[in-house]
Formats: sequence, C-alpha cells, structure tokens
Amino acid sequence: MRIGVLTGGGDCPGLNAVIRAVVRKGAGIYGHEFVGFRDGWRGAMEGDTVPLDIAAVRGILPRGGTILGSSRTNPYRVEGGMEAIRKALADNGIDALVAIGGEDTLGVATRLSEDGVNVVGVPKTIDNDLSATDYTFGFDTAVNIAMEAIDRLHTTAESHHRVLIAEVMGRHAGWIALHAGTAGGANVILIPERPFDIVKVCEYIEARFASHYACIVVVAEGALPAEGTMAVQTGALDAFGHVRLGGIGQRLADEIEARLNREARVTVLGHLQRGGTPTAFDRVLATRFGLHAIDAVHDGDFGKMVALRATDIVRVPFTAATAELKTVPLERYAEVEVFFGV
Ligand code: F6P
Repeated sequence: MRIGVLTGGGDCPGLNAVIRAVVRKGAGIYGHEFVGFRDGWRGAMEGDTVPLDIAAVRGILPRGGTILGSSRTNPYRVEGGMEAIRKALADNGIDALVAIGGEDTLGVATRLSEDGVNVVGVPKTIDNDLSATDYTFGFDTAVNIAMEAIDRLHTTAESHHRVLIAEVMGRHAGWIALHAGTAGGANVILIPERPFDIVKVCEYIEARFASHYACIVVVAEGALPAEGTMAVQTGALDAFGHVRLGGIGQRLADEIEARLNREARVTVLGHLQRGGTPTAFDRVLATRFGLHAIDAVHDGDFGKMVALRATDIVRVPFTAATAELKTVPLERYAEVEVFFGV
C-alpha cells in the first residue's frame, strides 16, 4: 500500500515518535510505502508532499514538534477543499491515510472516512480532552513542564510574599491545570469545568498568607468566573471556530490586587508547554499508538482511531472519538480542593 501521513492542529511532543513508529513498522515489517503531507490538511488539499521513508524518520524520536509541519487549516472552510483532498490523494496514488491530530483533525478525518476515504486516526493533544482515550500523548510532557514552573514559582512567592499565578493551557478542559497544580502543590486551582467565585479565591489567598506561606494559583486558560461576578475578555476565532484563549491569569491578578491590596503576578506558560522533547511516558504512548495505527491500516480496519484503555491500545470508531469533550469530573476536582488555602 501507499500510505499518506499528516499531523494537524497544535503541535505536541510525541508527534515525531508516532510518525517514526508508523514508518518503521509499516515500511520495515509490512513493506508499505509512505508519503508525508506537509502542514496537516493544507498539504493534503494542495498535494504538498514530502518523502517519508525509514531514513527520513531516523533520530526523530526525542524531537518535539513534527517533521511534517502542522496547521489549523479546515478543508470544510475552503471552497472545494474536500474535492481537492480527494484529487491530491488520487494524484499521489494514496491507498490509505494516517491522520494524527486532535478533535478538529479527527473531525475532518471522520467526514472523509464517511465519504469512503481509508483513514486511521491517532489522537494527540496536550489538552487530554479526547473522550475515547484515557490519555493522549503530549499531556504528560505539558504537565511536567508546568509542574517544574510551579516548583520554581514557589520560591519567589515565598521570598516576596506575593500571589503568583501560573496560567496553563488546556482549552476548555482543566486537565493540565488539575494535574500540574496537584503535582506542584498549588494552593488554588481554577478550571473551566467549575466557574470560580473570586470572593472565595481571595479567601483562600488570605488563609494561605495567614499560615505564613505565600500563595500559588494555577489557572487554566479556559477558566471563567461564575456568571456576573467578574468581567473577562473574549478572543478571536480560529478556522475551526474555537476562541483563542489566554488572559484570564492577568485578569485574576488585577482583581486580586484590587481586592486584597497584595502584589499578584502572572506567568503565562503558553507554548512552552507544547515545546521540546517528550517525556518517556509520551514517547512510549506515541510509539505504541503509531505501531497500532499501522496495524489497523494493514488490516484494512479503517474509520477507526487508536486509543489507550488502561494499559491496552484499542481501536475505536471515529464517531466515538470526537463525539464529546472529555472534561474533568467535578468529583476529581473535589479531591484536590482539600489543599486550597491551607
Ligand atoms: O489544543 C492545544 C492548545 O495548545 C490549547 O491548549 C490552546 O488553547 C491552543 O492549542 C493554542 O493554539 P495556538 O497555538 O494555535 O494558538
């Protein structure tokens, strides 16, 4: 078979590990040929390809980002986008496609698959918000980067008696904030799943100072105040209609300073969380996803996404993968509330 591979959406540590595993097993064991499409669906629409053989994937396991490039191009927003993809696949003699991406990339893969294109999906996102898989690769790396940052913030918070706020990514799911905040010993964690009460947040901060420790607040970029309690700004939309998040940390700092007359500073971790080398956990998960994805292609088991269930890699229908966002259950959040303000 001649198999196309693409990576779409925000980049994520572990993408190269998937590409490497797909090509190493696909070419080395099954004898398939590979073609890389540059920059996600953009390359698939424009027929912008890159050779992808075993030599091309040597040495990429520890590298962050993606050797294929990525984009947030949505072919359904481009006139004739889907026809262009079909033509590019035919022109390149592609029998099957491995699409590595998050909710948006897999959403496009789902529609392509419904239209009869042979596609297998691999879930990726630092946000860990895909419902059909226990974990996505990239998440563990992002959490470790955020945890290390929080560890470092503790010392300055204590030396200067400040409220230090770490704003982390995660879009509309609080997984990164929950895990990094728990691992880093944050005193308050704010997530999108539970709109926060600024009065309560200020109480936690004062209680923390009363015990002679400074305060670290971890806030997910998608966290919101309870309705009508604090004004927030909204950002621009991307090609998939998602609002560009970010800025809640600074709003929180301004509000805390105004209400408590204490110095509050924000550190926005931003793309640092997506950059650099993947952790061992993410390398292993990404490698296993890649190996199982090429097995699915080889078996002709299309319209499926590989997923982690406990310690097993399974195949699930695309529809299950993108049906709903996996958000933090409130009982998970309640577990860590015991550390707030104390
Ligand atoms: O989905 C991954 C992610 O990093 C989100 O956490 C974040 O909201 C978004 O992508 C940022 O996207 P971009 O890099 O395109 O601004």
